[in-house]
Amino acid sequence: MTVLLVEDDASIAIVITAALEAEGFSVVRCDSIAERDRLLGEGNYSALVTDVMLTDGDGIETIGAVRHAAPNMPIIILSAQNTLDTAVRASDTGAFEYFPKPFDIDELARTVRQAVGSGAAREDMGEEAPVAGLPLVGRSAPMQAVYRMITRVLRNDLTVLVLGESGTGKELVAEAIHQLGHRKAGPFVAVNTAAIPAELIESELFGHEKGAFTGAVARHVGKFEQAEGGTLFLDEIGDMPMQAQTRLLRALQSGTIRRVGGRDEIRVDVRIVAATNRDLEPMIAAGTFREDLFYRLNVVPITLPPLRERADDIPALARHFLGLAAGEGLPRHVLADDAAALVARQPWRGNVRELRNFIYRLALLAREDVIDAATVAPLLAPASRGEAGSAETTLEGAVGQWLAVNDPPAGIIYDSALAAFERPLFITVLQRTGGNQLRAAQVLGINRNTLRKRLHELGIDPLDIVRPG
Ligand SMILES: Nc1ncnc2c1ncn2[C@@H]1O[C@H](COP(=O)(O)OP(=O)(O)OP(=O)(O)O)[C@@H](O)[C@H]1O
Ligand SMILES: [Mg+2]
Repeated sequence: MTVLLVEDDASIAIVITAALEAEGFSVVRCDSIAERDRLLGEGNYSALVTDVMLTDGDGIETIGAVRHAAPNMPIIILSAQNTLDTAVRASDTGAFEYFPKPFDIDELARTVRQAVGSGAAREDMGEEAPVAGLPLVGRSAPMQAVYRMITRVLRNDLTVLVLGESGTGKELVAEAIHQLGHRKAGPFVAVNTAAIPAELIESELFGHEKGAFTGAVARHVGKFEQAEGGTLFLDEIGDMPMQAQTRLLRALQSGTIRRVGGRDEIRVDVRIVAATNRDLEPMIAAGTFREDLFYRLNVVPITLPPLRERADDIPALARHFLGLAAGEGLPRHVLADDAAALVARQPWRGNVRELRNFIYRLALLAREDVIDAATVAPLLAPASRGEAGSAETTLEGAVGQWLAVNDPPAGIIYDSALAAFERPLFITVLQRTGGNQLRAAQVLGINRNTLRKRLHELGIDPLDIVRPG
């Protein structure tokens, strides 16, 4: 098995060659694109390992010629520029892997070995093999695209922004990137910026020194420092207050943090994965999300499809959750095909989370071992079945639905529920008063300072409500 190595830096080429030979490959090396194309025309290679900046051109731009000469040969791209542009361009070529420099030579050799293995597998299956060990269920085309993006960020530290509606699996993707990536030996630290009171966010993220503010009775190490050597997952980034956004941006730009009340700049080595279910672009336009922070975070966007756009995955997911439920001690059931089909037809506005909670309820309530459509039908929520008199018309029903869909973590349910209740209430009343806060406070029957404070805490800008668009 021969690998074609296109690398104009002789010293790097020597090390790579040695590592590939140790993996049992023979290596043919050239240092230009012209030479590369000549060699590909003459012989067959098991894989191509190529640099980007070459003496006679760009290794990615000219990859079409390689694809043409050897359509199934895996391509591994090396690059000194760990930028969005190269990562995205490398992804677009359908390259097997992208390695920003400096990289681990042994890891490169192992990847070439895997790539050569998967090249054969790919021909058999007619599609790209999913990554081994991925905790995500679903083989639909939109999920395949997600898996491809995940594989491309495992061996680098590019910042990832995971987007998608609530319950589509954003946190699961963040965990997968950590667990399968090269930082897996380090910690995975998640921080939900929406669940922390605005005035405590900075101390949560960056820590504080003893006495930094009233109540700071001891030094506190923040999430950035806790994640040292690992991954920091910034969840619900779209709900972060402005001031915290500014501090976060500064930390990301400098690679250093300063504890609240502290003097030292502390260098931190963390990989950032951020997520939000909000649409950030209108927020940027409205001035509630910093545009420069968006560009910092949006280096590699991974967008999760809503469940209704991949209904083909629903039966597999439903059966997966039945298995999980049984593993957690609930009665073991089998889902009949007619039941799976009925479940697959539901809208699942709460996406995978709602489906999961529904299947657990089903596992608990179903009497028969085999669950058929007749058992499933009565358990589907009226709102899901799209009937009149939906759960949303009573507050009780709405609370039940909200809990089922959002499944807030224990310990913050009261605060999350209040926030979830206040937001639409305030927005609706403000809409009716044309954004007039004084009148809104009168209508609500609360103090106007209380209203102002809560609006601020919830990140609601009354001006947004009346502003068109
Ligand atoms: N593809 C999948 N395969 C298996 N389980 C999944 C998948 N996607 C999501 N889940 C499960 O669904 C639930 C919700 O997923 P997760 O918490 O990652 O959603 P989210 O996008 O972060 O939602 P939110 O925006 O509300 O925070 C979790 O229990 C998760 O394990
Ligand atoms: Mg989440």
